[in-house]
Amino acid sequence: MGLALNSRGVSTSVLPESTTFSMHVRRDVRYSVTQLTSHVFDLEMPALAELVGRRPLLIAFDEVVDALYGITIRAYVQQHLNPFSTIVLRGGESNKRFDEVERVCDAAIASGLPRNGVMVAVGGGVVLDIVGMAAALYRRGVAFVRIPTTLLGMVDVAVGIKQAVNFGNKKNVLGTFYPPIGVLNDPTFLSTSSRRDLACGVAEIIKIGLVADPLLFGLLERYLEPLLESSFQRPSEIAREVLERSQFTMMTELAPNLYEDDLKRAVDFGHSFSPTIELRSDYRLAHGEAVAIDMLLSTAIAAHRGICASSLFDRLIVLYDAAGLAIEDDLCTLPLLMEALVDVKGHRGGNLNFPVPNGIGTCTFLQHVDATDCRVALDAVAHSARRNVLSKRL
Ligand SMILES: NC(=O)c1ccc[n+]([C@@H]2O[C@H](COP(=O)([O-])OP(=O)(O)OC[C@H]3O[C@@H](n4cnc5c(N)ncnc54)[C@H](O)[C@@H]3O)[C@@H](O)[C@H]2O)c1
Repeated sequence: MGLALNSRGVSTSVLPESTTFSMHVRRDVRYSVTQLTSHVFDLEMPALAELVGRRPLLIAFDEVVDALYGITIRAYVQQHLNPFSTIVLRGGESNKRFDEVERVCDAAIASGLPRNGVMVAVGGGVVLDIVGMAAALYRRGVAFVRIPTTLLGMVDVAVGIKQAVNFGNKKNVLGTFYPPIGVLNDPTFLSTSSRRDLACGVAEIIKIGLVADPLLFGLLERYLEPLLESSFQRPSEIAREVLERSQFTMMTELAPNLYEDDLKRAVDFGHSFSPTIELRSDYRLAHGEAVAIDMLLSTAIAAHRGICASSLFDRLIVLYDAAGLAIEDDLCTLPLLMEALVDVKGHRGGNLNFPVPNGIGTCTFLQHVDATDCRVALDAVAHSARRNVLSKRL
């Protein structure tokens, strides 16, 4: 016999052999991603102070960001926020470990961060992921704010609700879905980013443009060089549009499937081979670089199968050339790609759900990718690499 849901969302089902109480409650996910037009730690900028109020804080900085901006940040915090303690973390994939999450939790305990306290992460994707996980675990969850300082952090890591660390020789295998209370994107941080880190961010912008926003892809094709030359500061209105479109399109893609109940995700384009490539390179290849190589291989497979025009592959090569992104790596062999497919299938619940573009701004999913597909893709990339070398020699 089943009984109706009560007003608190609990229903009861009574059978001769058992009684089951079931919980049906919803919790809204609300957070905002704000694109600022001046420096987040300018004394006159109210955004962070408004977001956290006078709540106790633990601020975690990327080491490089601390060296470059630490004085300004501390001056802001002293004037507007109170009280606070700090911890410095290192960027770079090899530092995205669970013991770093523990270190943040230790600092929270040492500073007595209460349940209504806030963790603020200021750094690239690595620091955002570590602190997001610590915030999700500490006292079963305290509020946290992301202030991304790399391009990849701004357009990708900061806009969603998940975070993960590498563990047991697996990339991102331990993680949480835990929304921040807010994200403050300050593009002035990009003026000190290395060209390599900017290129990694560009790879993720190419991804979102290619699978979901043709206009964004077109903006990159037209303006990538001046954007990179100016560290995404100029042309200012284009830089702003590219950043905002990337964030908005990414959030729009994520929103209907925030907790990844559906493991068929367009935003996984470029993330099928890349976790294995990145891991096997011992993180010599950065996340964005591995994603770029994967996107090209995936597009080559789609072009070979007639799912997209082969000109799309060439257009990617032109963008990579402008960004300084490598199109291949010696590590990418047929056995490695096959191993990556097995691994990603496990990550996607037993289905391959391999995203490939079927035009610009749209994608489809393959459930079977075999050794012939991978061989064709590796050949296509090697052929283009040779063509590139030859044309540069002429
Ligand atoms: N959680 C998610 O949804 C999600 C999504 C995409 C990527 N990621 C993760 O993000 C990570 C990559 O992020 P990343 O590319 O930002 O790498 P990163 O955090 O290692 O930063 C790259 C380098 O830039 C330095 N740096 C940071 N800000 C700087 C600044 N303003 N000026 C000069 N140097 C600066 C850092 O010290 C580091 O050396 C990967 O671990 C990836 O798995 C997570």
